[in-house]
Amino acid sequence: MAIWRGLAAPGVEALTRGRFITLEGGEGAGKSVQARRLAARLAALGLETVATREPGGTPQAEALRELILSGALREGGPAAEAIAFSAARLDHLDALIGPALARGAWVVCDRFADSTRAYQGAAGRLSLGLIDRLEQIVVGERRPDLTLLLDLAPELGLARAAARRGAAAGADRFEGEALDFHRTLGEAFRAIARADPERCVVIDASADEANVAQAVWTAVEARLGGHLP
Ligand code: TYD
Repeated sequence: MAIWRGLAAPGVEALTRGRFITLEGGEGAGKSVQARRLAARLAALGLETVATREPGGTPQAEALRELILSGALREGGPAAEAIAFSAARLDHLDALIGPALARGAWVVCDRFADSTRAYQGAAGRLSLGLIDRLEQIVVGERRPDLTLLLDLAPELGLARAAARRGAAAGADRFEGEALDFHRTLGEAFRAIARADPERCVVIDASADEANVAQAVWTAVEARLGGHLP
């Protein structure tokens, strides 16, 4: 496993370590678009910026993404899915995110460990004990510096997600869950943000794309402005 040099040995490396920003939220909240816009804005400041996503980001994690989102693990229940998401995350952290941060890059990641907590934990009813243990093994101290939670009513988010994929294609593994599942997700993400206000900022994602992007940037400046050029 890669060593988390910035955190394992505070000192010069901790100062030169890049910053790790995640975007979280339910279906159709606009995370992917906002992640791209944020990465572009950081890059425009001259920062090395790595835009990535979960599940995915490395060949191994992308292979696991295909498997999970095809629904092939559904019968194994939320535990099997959480373990697969975690295996993908471990490779993503070791092979991409960790090395990028260690060389000073800023990493913008579309979904991360809070998604496992909300989707498999709260909505899938997997025990918090198992979620905690998986997160401890896989993430440990490698937590994001900032998590932006894009909050949107599930009815609106699901409609946006359906419009985006087009009427012909069917809903994917999680989008196809009942409305209650998506309501629980929203509550779970808000609870995560309340429990960890130093790391998380809730952003109203019902506004138009440009206004949400401005709210995202305001949060980044407020929380991480001291690290920006
Ligand atoms: P994706 O197409 O990236 O969805 P979105 O555009 O909404 O981000 O597919 C990722 C799906 O996987 C999404 O439905 C959320 C789900 N997911 C989990 O259930 N657990 C996790 O740990 C992660 C990272 C994603």
